[in-house]
Amino acid sequence: MSAEETFVPSTSEWFYPTEDIVKQAAIQDYETVYQEAIADSEGFWARRAETLAWYQRWEKVLDKSNAPFYKWFVGGKTNIALNALDRHVKTWRRNKLALIFEGEPGDKQTFSYWRLWQEVNKFGNVLRSMGIKKGDRVTIYMGRIPELIIAMLACAKIGAVHSVVYGGFSEHALADRIEDAQSRVLITCDGAWLRGSIVELKKIADQAVHRSPVVETVIVVKRTGQDVPMQAGRDFWYHDLMALPIASTKCETEVMDAEDPLFILYTSGTTGKPKGILHTHGGYQVYTSTTLNWVFDIKDEDRFWCAADPGWITGHSYIVYAPLILGATEIIYEGAPNYPYPNRWWKIVEEYGVTILYTAPTAIRGLMRFGDAWPKRHDLSSLRLLGSVGEPINPEAWKWFYNVIGKGKCPIMDTWWMTETGGFLITPMPSVGLKPGSCTRPFPGIEADVVDDSGKSCPPGVEGKLVIKTPWPGMLRTIYGDPDRMVKTYFSAYPGTHWYLAGDSARKDEDGYFWVIGRIDDVIKVSGYRLGTAEIESGLVSHPAVAEAAAIGIPDEVRGNVIYAYCVLRQGHQGSEALVDALKTHIRNEIGPIAIPSKIEFVSVLPKTRSGKIMRRVLKARAQGLPEGDISTLEE
Ligand code: WTA
Repeated sequence: MSAEETFVPSTSEWFYPTEDIVKQAAIQDYETVYQEAIADSEGFWARRAETLAWYQRWEKVLDKSNAPFYKWFVGGKTNIALNALDRHVKTWRRNKLALIFEGEPGDKQTFSYWRLWQEVNKFGNVLRSMGIKKGDRVTIYMGRIPELIIAMLACAKIGAVHSVVYGGFSEHALADRIEDAQSRVLITCDGAWLRGSIVELKKIADQAVHRSPVVETVIVVKRTGQDVPMQAGRDFWYHDLMALPIASTKCETEVMDAEDPLFILYTSGTTGKPKGILHTHGGYQVYTSTTLNWVFDIKDEDRFWCAADPGWITGHSYIVYAPLILGATEIIYEGAPNYPYPNRWWKIVEEYGVTILYTAPTAIRGLMRFGDAWPKRHDLSSLRLLGSVGEPINPEAWKWFYNVIGKGKCPIMDTWWMTETGGFLITPMPSVGLKPGSCTRPFPGIEADVVDDSGKSCPPGVEGKLVIKTPWPGMLRTIYGDPDRMVKTYFSAYPGTHWYLAGDSARKDEDGYFWVIGRIDDVIKVSGYRLGTAEIESGLVSHPAVAEAAAIGIPDEVRGNVIYAYCVLRQGHQGSEALVDALKTHIRNEIGPIAIPSKIEFVSVLPKTRSGKIMRRVLKARAQGLPEGDISTLEE
């Protein structure tokens, strides 16, 4: 399944939603709403913002004076926790389930809005008592458990800026992110359950704190229960702190400026140093809640399951914030989709009556591999809508998801977006016609296009660069500590404009539908996870045997891409199976299990241009036995 094969021109089969689905959709006439939003974008977003609570109304919807450093809802005072929690507990929703948690071992917990609000208040007070105040950064490194969501919301509530590091990252990656954010507090857990074994998060956290001594306090949630060393004066059990009188259930919500930072989330780019993408309270809450509301058509009786990890942007926007802002009931599940058997997810759908399931192509392909018998054993009739994110979905997986899981009656929302965009940018809504493999058309208020290098719109069917031509409220505000890098990375490809360059290549078809092909930079999507070749390469080179390294992504049937690495060894070192294993372990420690190359090859030289740039394109072609193309710039 190469990216090439995913492109089906406008002759592609259409799939239309049933009358029933259209009738209940929040937006029934995409075209009209889209045109209205383009004609008066500020008015459109102001009306959306009015559906939320503000301590003080904004004076100006959009300030473009310092573009691309846009400001939204200028002068507005709010807090995303005011909208996600405080306002709900004043209504009947206080009794509604906010969160249903299922642990991998089978334990369950539920949180009403009232209980979630109380837990967040308690933990907010704990953090405040430790001297954490508005603007301070707090790093969170945990498994997929309710305390992760509580910790994030508690930070937001007291105005602290959370930086969540995905639990699959190693000590080194964690230390780098702590260092960059200068977090004094780290919140973690003893361990996380994965496929029946324990991922020892506290142990990794200890090593990370050893590397970055800026951390003064470590708060540890007890999840897996094995003995973990606790350093007196530095480490505290979460449950001990939550039992202190200071942890009262009343916690004042910090009044935040609309443009005050809400979180930093690190993501990969072209260079080795991860970028701290910064989002703010005001615009982000408006954008994520509007997109979720219209695309997944959230209703009070829904049971929404976004099966992502809160440690990535999908989880930030569509587990932690938007569903709670909308007062939805959502499911979180701790573990692996196929543990102990490949029916685990389908069992969860049946047991909780999930109505909306939002996941990634890699998970769909992984579960598809086990055959139809597993889902067929379960009653999946509660499902109404399905969703996909993270990479292009191949039509075969799309159709399996549609037919076998959705029984041909649940439209699939193939949402294209990025960490930097805060929420969905190009996405279907339940009332539009679908073509498998296309993320369809831009969300209202979003001006997307496919252009060539000179900035001219590409005609239908012609591949070009995906750009967004006007600002939107959910967009990133800066790269933490490096605003110039934001301008350079995203806003300087087309001089004279402030177009946002996504870094993806795409085509539009005759119907104006977008077909995303893949990254055009040195980013690899492995099982939907975003990794930079530079990170993997610098990880390899930090091993004493490696002089030089190149990493590339190779198409894979289940994971979308896998990593191949090529290493030139230092003098005195010999390539061997043992060294391959040692390098894999090294990458596991340096970055995390998600970055381990599936193949490592030792070579005597790397193909480079005369200016010394590694020609990954040539490596990629060689690895796949394809023609190498133009190699006139290749070094002698
Ligand atoms: C890719 C994930 C095709 C794309 C939310 C983008 C997709 C990158 C889709 C961002 C989709 C995401 N179809 N490709 N529906 N969704 N992508 O920051 O290459 O982890 O640039 O955000 O994922 O990855 P990130």
